[in-house]
Amino acid sequence: MTARLIDGKALSDTVKSDVSKRVLSLKEQGIVPGLAVVLVGEDPASQVYVRNKAAACDKAGLHSRVIRLASDTTEGELLDVVHELNADTTIHGILVQLPLPAHMDASLVIEAISADKDVDGFHISNAGLLMTGQPLFRPCTPYGIMKMLEAENVSLRGAEAVIVGASNIVGKPMAMLLLAAGATVTLCNSKTRDLGAQTRRADVLVVATGKPGIVTGDMIKPGAVVIDVGINRSADGRLVGDVDFESAKAVAAAITPVPGGVGPMTIAMLLVNTVEAAERGPA
Ligand code: GUN
Repeated sequence: MTARLIDGKALSDTVKSDVSKRVLSLKEQGIVPGLAVVLVGEDPASQVYVRNKAAACDKAGLHSRVIRLASDTTEGELLDVVHELNADTTIHGILVQLPLPAHMDASLVIEAISADKDVDGFHISNAGLLMTGQPLFRPCTPYGIMKMLEAENVSLRGAEAVIVGASNIVGKPMAMLLLAAGATVTLCNSKTRDLGAQTRRADVLVVATGKPGIVTGDMIKPGAVVIDVGINRSADGRLVGDVDFESAKAVAAAITPVPGGVGPMTIAMLLVNTVEAAERGPA
């Protein structure tokens, strides 16, 4: 068997064109959805992500404001910027790019973002709302993955869903969304005793660890749907996921490529969240 490729780029274009329509109708009411992205320091990967986020906003007709701060910015100065953005009525979504420099407490900064502008869905009250089944903002990567599974007509009710990686950004919110969709969810972490025994049970396997090749074809159930969230640079300079693509695609029914799978969907869902915030209007 050779797995079907799940084309995140094509689906993200569809999502973004729907966003553009919603932006036009907001503009007819005199509202321009605005996203502020705050980048502290010079992390090269973060710089690329932030540039891509701003470019996607501009293309879809949203207003974007990128605030670049030096790596020696104090936590107090960053909090002042967040407070100013909270009060700015032209800004509907605020995203502080992670990771932050080591001298800053990321949780403190995230909690300072107004929960109704927290388009990342990382604020503790948004995490709580998601956990209790009343989400305000769904974190963009898991939200994008749910859209991909929906577009692929993957049946989730009663399905075995296994997630590898239990981060606040991907693994944990992914577990909540799959659970809400009726899947039986297993959330694996770096201490999981026999990872293959878990992943081989999965009808839907989501891998988000940042460890290239952690999942290989022999760890995948024939016919599974495999979602690879990893973006890693291989020794020869290629972008590779967390899943060993060649061996996995011989076993899976469908798989996301890297690049061109989950990545483009994450940005598209950020635009969706920002438009939703603008549609909701002032709190
Ligand atoms: N760093 C890596 N992924 C993300 C994300 O989705 N949001 C933010 N704010 N930072 C990130």
